[in-house]
Amino acid sequence: MSLQIQSLEAYKEAYQKSVENPSLFWDEIANQFLWRKKWTKTLEYDWTVPETKWFLGGQMNITENALDRHLETRGDQVALICEPNSPEEETKYITYKELHSKVCAFANVLKRNGAKKGDRICIYMPMILELSVAILACARIGAIHSVVFAGFSSTALAARINDATCSILLTADGGFRGDKITPLKDIADEALKNAPSIKKSIICQRTYQNITWNPSIDVWWHEELEKVDDNCPAETMDSEDMLFILYTSGSTGKPKGMVHTCGGYMIYATYSFQNVFQYKEGDIYWCSADIGWITGHSYILYGPLISGATSILFEGVPSYPDYGRFWQICEKHKVNQFYTAPTAIRALAKHPTSFIDKYDLSSLKVLGTVGEPINEEAWHWYDDNIGKNKCPIVDTWFQTENGGIMITSLAGITESKPTYATLPLPGIQPVLMDVNSNEIEKVEAEGILAIKYPWPSIARTIYGDHERYKNVYFSAYENYYFPGDGALRDERGNYRITGRVDDVVIVSGHNLGTAPIENAINEHEKIVESAVVGFPHDLKGFALYAFVIPYDGVEVNDELAKEVREVVANTIGPIAKPDKIQFVKGLPKTRSGKIMRRILRKIASNEIDSLGDVSTLLNPEVVKNIIENKL
Ligand code: WT7
Repeated sequence: MSLQIQSLEAYKEAYQKSVENPSLFWDEIANQFLWRKKWTKTLEYDWTVPETKWFLGGQMNITENALDRHLETRGDQVALICEPNSPEEETKYITYKELHSKVCAFANVLKRNGAKKGDRICIYMPMILELSVAILACARIGAIHSVVFAGFSSTALAARINDATCSILLTADGGFRGDKITPLKDIADEALKNAPSIKKSIICQRTYQNITWNPSIDVWWHEELEKVDDNCPAETMDSEDMLFILYTSGSTGKPKGMVHTCGGYMIYATYSFQNVFQYKEGDIYWCSADIGWITGHSYILYGPLISGATSILFEGVPSYPDYGRFWQICEKHKVNQFYTAPTAIRALAKHPTSFIDKYDLSSLKVLGTVGEPINEEAWHWYDDNIGKNKCPIVDTWFQTENGGIMITSLAGITESKPTYATLPLPGIQPVLMDVNSNEIEKVEAEGILAIKYPWPSIARTIYGDHERYKNVYFSAYENYYFPGDGALRDERGNYRITGRVDDVVIVSGHNLGTAPIENAINEHEKIVESAVVGFPHDLKGFALYAFVIPYDGVEVNDELAKEVREVVANTIGPIAKPDKIQFVKGLPKTRSGKIMRRILRKIASNEIDSLGDVSTLLNPEVVKNIIENKL
């Protein structure tokens, strides 16, 4: 299968074709995949409903494309290189044949434990081989996987299990991360107290620590594997059957379970992987993201495996055992494409280049970043020190909701420009909107990003809440998808994503809704109300600043701030802990009682001079008080 665009002319041609005749364009691409039954209609959509369907009537199974299809041609090629947390431990090299066998065997374990097509299975695991096997095993039998990042708390885990009424939980005794161990089973036990839909929990041994055992639902992964063989035909799936749910934060209320379906997701994850990274036969590709995020789903597993690539799965962190770990891995495996997040780049750039100079990085051909805007300084540090000014950098913009990369340069094919994601992939039609909700015609402009035509891997709905899906993504502009980001466009049509325009803050690449954090803080018995905003931060890109009103008579001290942080860590996860907590007497409100976050954002970001008119507030006097006591 070759889906690759190999020149600038070919990109322009492909782009034009994708706009003029999208069905023909995607048909030719989809024809290169393995289908059990061909689709009868390429696209049907109506964004007023909203509804989007791709490859209607087509039948397939994504694991046959990722595994079975390669058995003849590359069965003995390494599919996954599993690099453990500690460099002392042995690396695992798993061939396509072995991965196929492991996936089939574990799929049989799932079936033995009651899993059926359409069931939701929650996966709360460290970044180890078994996590990949678990995901693919679900897909094999048509069960819907819902991976929850192993850094989330028990409350966050329970909320996600309950939202999708998952019947099985796959977890591990614990997980290694740097010099820490996450007690995953303990956290899961806590979650299961409030997640009654789980009937079985399959526990993988990783840390061998002591755990409590609940004989009515717990079974050991390794013991179950002894009871099955590795023969498991793939379930036939319709293009539009659900493949997975993946949660992302929203600006209000509970996390949104984005629903991705089989056919369109398969095509787009693979097409984008091959074109953005320009992966060539025999290359070693490494994406350092967590599989708990969409980047890991699409660009550690599905895209690379369907392409027959060799993909690295890294369990650890960039700082352990020291700040050279990433580069040691690049040298060890002669990595050709390396894909990481700006937050990791900024963190590593704080340390001496002696951590890099020790290693031979000459195998690198392409560098990538994803997750948040990359600042100019970090971009150049990456280019100079890691790419040695010879590797194109692809700054890839996309969202959990998109399934795959939307705006980026294609490595070595289209131009890279520092801090710009640059151009849309073929099939993606971005526009900029002005304040009156009209498309800005002028090329060089600034506005709100919107997408005006469907692409195959757009999330089809929010699990269980189609109304919310409509409100969040399709009500800002009629007949356009609204991502929630602002953007600039240069004279050549390159896009630069400037950041969120709603109440979501990207902290160290983690997408955090401020509303759930506020709800968590407000749960504290001594707290009346709170408002959380983002402010620029050297390492994290953005960090959280919480303005918190305690009840009258409550003593305000460091202990209370600590408790507030604890509440957030316990409800959402340590990543959501505010950097700054300022206790205040009141919050600026509009006359209708809505907190004016815009003002708080300016105060938190030290932009006090541009606060604007506060006199229309219900309580303008609180602003002065907040500024005087600013942290
Ligand atoms: C939000 C989506 C896509 C995987 C990781 C994040 C921001 C993402 C970039 C980029 C500027 C970016 C946007 C987007 N974002 N990539 N290259 N340049 N901003 O997925 O958690 O769904 O977050 O991340 O604000 O809307 P996510």
